[in-house]
Amino acid sequence: MTSILPLLPEADLPPVLVTGGAGYIGSHAALALIDRGIRTVVLDDLSTGSRALVPPGAIFVAGRAGDRALVEELIGEHGIGAILHFAARISVEESVANPALYYRENVAETLGLAEAALARGVGALVLSSTAAVYGNGAGVPLAEVAPVAPINPYGWSKAFAERMLADLVAANRHLSVACPRYFNVAGADPALRAGQASRHPHHLIELACHVLTGQRERLTIFGRDWPTPDGTGVRDYVHVSDLAEAHVLLLRACLADPGQFHCLNLGYGRGASVLEVLAALERVSGQAIARVDGPRRAGDPAVLVAASNARALLGWQPRFADLDAMVGHALAWERKRLEQG
Ligand code: UD1
Repeated sequence: MTSILPLLPEADLPPVLVTGGAGYIGSHAALALIDRGIRTVVLDDLSTGSRALVPPGAIFVAGRAGDRALVEELIGEHGIGAILHFAARISVEESVANPALYYRENVAETLGLAEAALARGVGALVLSSTAAVYGNGAGVPLAEVAPVAPINPYGWSKAFAERMLADLVAANRHLSVACPRYFNVAGADPALRAGQASRHPHHLIELACHVLTGQRERLTIFGRDWPTPDGTGVRDYVHVSDLAEAHVLLLRACLADPGQFHCLNLGYGRGASVLEVLAALERVSGQAIARVDGPRRAGDPAVLVAASNARALLGWQPRFADLDAMVGHALAWERKRLEQG
């Protein structure tokens, strides 16, 4: 597969620091690196992550991503040449109630990390960003050129962090930064080495898996009167392992070409409705999902689907875009998690 952006050969990738590597997406990215034999250092304060999700092959360090002295020490000790920055707060609701927490953890901590990276000559920094920077979305599908117009402090905290990193790159041309904007991340490692383990689940697929495994009585469908083909919300669900692979490609793109700043959407460019997601889970499990109809959830857009250049720019080749495979992995992981207590 060819890519528009130049890519560093995979074999030349340096050791990588993964902040938030004890979390859902970070642990899958750490797996993608370790599976390639790349030295991987996970830095996580375990405030929301779980030590059990850190892959056995990774070096684990407990601490904050924005602890500049600690990060500089780790860069020196392990010869870190690139950073994947996943550590962040991610709940829209919490960000509205406690915006200071979001600006401190998502913006200020990112600055500390970036300053350490700059001081030590790290060549690549990839910041987890989100489709929430587009607010309610100014187009279907949503392209990277859509206006950045968040509607909550979570979205703003990521938009500020992106902007800050763009300015740092402009002033320090040896660093390249990429800000992948995630759509709805779902699924689990196909070998079930990692998956979603939220303390307070609120995502559709995770909640539906909780119903199927008897941990929750029923699912509420947030609105059947949306302007969509079946009246329920439509999202671009992207498999977490495909997302992890895209991060390896982003590291290679950043390291091949210093002084670049990239923002790109990570989604498949196709939507699935709430009813389609539930039907896929019912097919895969052979069980019915108890559900009730409820009102629309405040702040939900009707449709959120990516127009993404990631395939062309990076040569990204998603392997798990099939909805049944994605929800199947999520359910298998949830069952395994329950068995293991
Ligand atoms: C998720 C994130 C959001 C992020 C966005 C894009 C949350 C809660 N949402 O959005 O922060 O900006 O991805 O990256 O973290 N639904 C139900 N019943 C439920 C739960 C959900 O009907 O019990 C519906 C929703 O109305 C929506 C769809 O399922 O149409 C997906 O919802 P969800 O999984 O919560 O993700 P998003 O809110 O789309």
